[in-house]
Amino acid sequence: MYFLYTIIASLAVFFILKWLKKRRYCTDLRRLDGKTIIITGGNSGIGKETAIALAMRGARVIIACRDPDKAEKAVREIKLKSHSLNVLHMELDLANLSSVREFCKSFLQREKKLDILVNNAGMPGVLEWTDNNFSMCFGVNHLGHFLLTNLLLPRLKECAPSRVITLTCSSYKYQKLDFQDLNYNQLPFFTYCRSKLANIYFSQEVARITEGKGVTSYAVHPGFVQSGWTCHYSILFRMLVQVIMWMFFVPCEIGAQTVIYCAVSDEAAKHSGGYFIDCRPATLRPFARDAAVAKKLWEASERLVNLA
Ligand SMILES: NC(=O)c1ccc[n+]([C@@H]2O[C@H](COP(=O)([O-])OP(=O)(O)OC[C@H]3O[C@@H](n4cnc5c(N)ncnc54)[C@H](OP(=O)(O)O)[C@@H]3O)[C@@H](O)[C@H]2O)c1
Repeated sequence: MYFLYTIIASLAVFFILKWLKKRRYCTDLRRLDGKTIIITGGNSGIGKETAIALAMRGARVIIACRDPDKAEKAVREIKLKSHSLNVLHMELDLANLSSVREFCKSFLQREKKLDILVNNAGMPGVLEWTDNNFSMCFGVNHLGHFLLTNLLLPRLKECAPSRVITLTCSSYKYQKLDFQDLNYNQLPFFTYCRSKLANIYFSQEVARITEGKGVTSYAVHPGFVQSGWTCHYSILFRMLVQVIMWMFFVPCEIGAQTVIYCAVSDEAAKHSGGYFIDCRPATLRPFARDAAVAKKLWEASERLVNLA
């Protein structure tokens, strides 16, 4: 009898987990022949799966990565899985603003086109500092991408219609920005949440300043994904999280679906500045839709990266 109960309970858990992990796939099969796409952090996790999918659709995919060895290995895998030779890597360390400038300079010299920029790279909550003394999360997740996008914006406008897709996280809702302390670096998870909230404001402001210029902007929450982010933590933490990830998180291939959707869909293009989950527009908390805060963050970021 106990045996029967165990089987029934196991089946129930199996189907509940399967239901919890159910996600939508991007059903728009549009090809991207002739398009050039940059994916930051395309050497692992969601970025690599996005690169495979977009290369498969015929795009020229450039993964922008900080470690050339990892990038080279990823390029080989992306080529193999996508059956495309039009994949390459370029060096970019978002924790170093000189590296961001160097990347943009060499990209703009080498490449004529830029149709889609995927701001994917990200650091989870770690209490470290970038080379320019910004907190790692704010510096990499927001400021690095802020500078990158600004320097590439003229090329995106030339190649309109073009798109900027920025990976954020639904955990944005647990924090608000403190303009007295944008460089907040105390509780790791909160540092991460603030950087992901900054990604949302940033994405909205890109949409606002490019309105009518053929560039559209999307903030994407990919779901909770079994990617490589735990590598920044201790083995004990990793082992613990591994079990939770296995039970509740989705594979990277699924995590990439909403990014792919925002890269190809006409429906998404009607919602520039929007927030997307599960291949459809989602609603943000009202404080995350505050255009005045988005503008204020943009101006503060311009000063921090010496752009103005
Ligand atoms: N996984 C989730 O559940 C989840 C949920 C919500 C949102 N997201 C967001 O999704 C995005 C992708 O994350 P993921 O889950 O795929 O994590 P991941 O596997 O850890 O990938 C992160 C990528 O970012 C790169 N990166 C980190 N710091 C960098 C820097 N300074 N310069 C250039 N590249 C850098 C990493 O390069 P290295 O390999 O060299 O470290 C790696 O390629 C992130 O923005 C994350 O915040 C993820």
